[in-house]
Amino acid sequence: MSQGPDVRFYGRRKGHELKPARQRLVTEALPFLRLPEALPSDLRTLFARPVRDVWLEIGFGAGEHLIHQARAHLDIGFIGAEPYINGIGALIAAVTAPLNGEGNARGIETVRIHDDDARTLLPRLPDASIGRLFVLFPDPWHKARHNKRRLISAETLDEFARILAPGAEFRFASDDDGYVRWTLARVTRHPAFVWTAKGPSDWRNRWEDAIATRYEVKNITGRKPAYLTFRRL
Ligand SMILES: C[S@@+](CC[C@H](N)C(=O)[O-])C[C@H]1O[C@@H](n2cnc3c(N)ncnc32)[C@H](O)[C@@H]1O
Repeated sequence: MSQGPDVRFYGRRKGHELKPARQRLVTEALPFLRLPEALPSDLRTLFARPVRDVWLEIGFGAGEHLIHQARAHLDIGFIGAEPYINGIGALIAAVTAPLNGEGNARGIETVRIHDDDARTLLPRLPDASIGRLFVLFPDPWHKARHNKRRLISAETLDEFARILAPGAEFRFASDDDGYVRWTLARVTRHPAFVWTAKGPSDWRNRWEDAIATRYEVKNITGRKPAYLTFRRL
């Protein structure tokens, strides 16, 4: 749970008290699912079963989208970064469900967790080690004086460009128009990325292989989200 010297996390790390069973699950399973301090140069070796690529989701919330992707892509290893312990608990419950006799085994061996701010993970990831990146409904910090807290910044985009393999996809979704414009402006002027949209249907519709996230379903703002797909050149 290390915090880098320049990283200050402004979100919530904890919500309601975890129920004893969930707390026990987190205590027992997180040490096995948490990324090791020293990461291997080939991230695919982090997983108990062979995987052909590694994808990263930043801010997975309660993990529904991550689990959905892991079940749909059994040959991919997934890293989820999220500091919110209640969300981490929900992801662990889904990942370990087969151990509790509640589900099937799909996806269980292909998920690892960074239980902290993603910005403390990014510098530790090898160059070109990630094949797809998901940033879905990041905290919008819509007040102008809070904009600088947004995850998308020149610094994180440089890190995304470094860790993403050539041709890798970077998916971003938000229902905050200001954050969508902010992200489009910054990513499209970054020399390592192109926006792949050819027409409105390419950013108005959710990706076909994705599910609505918990935040998206709640639709607190009542606005239709934008789904931006960028490609690492
Ligand atoms: C609005 S919620 C969306 C959660 C989920 N993606 C969804 O759509 O339901 C934003 C999430 O990003 C997480 N988050 C915020 N900053 C983060 C960071 N720097 N690294 C990792 N996760 C972060 C928060 O803890 C929160 O769970």
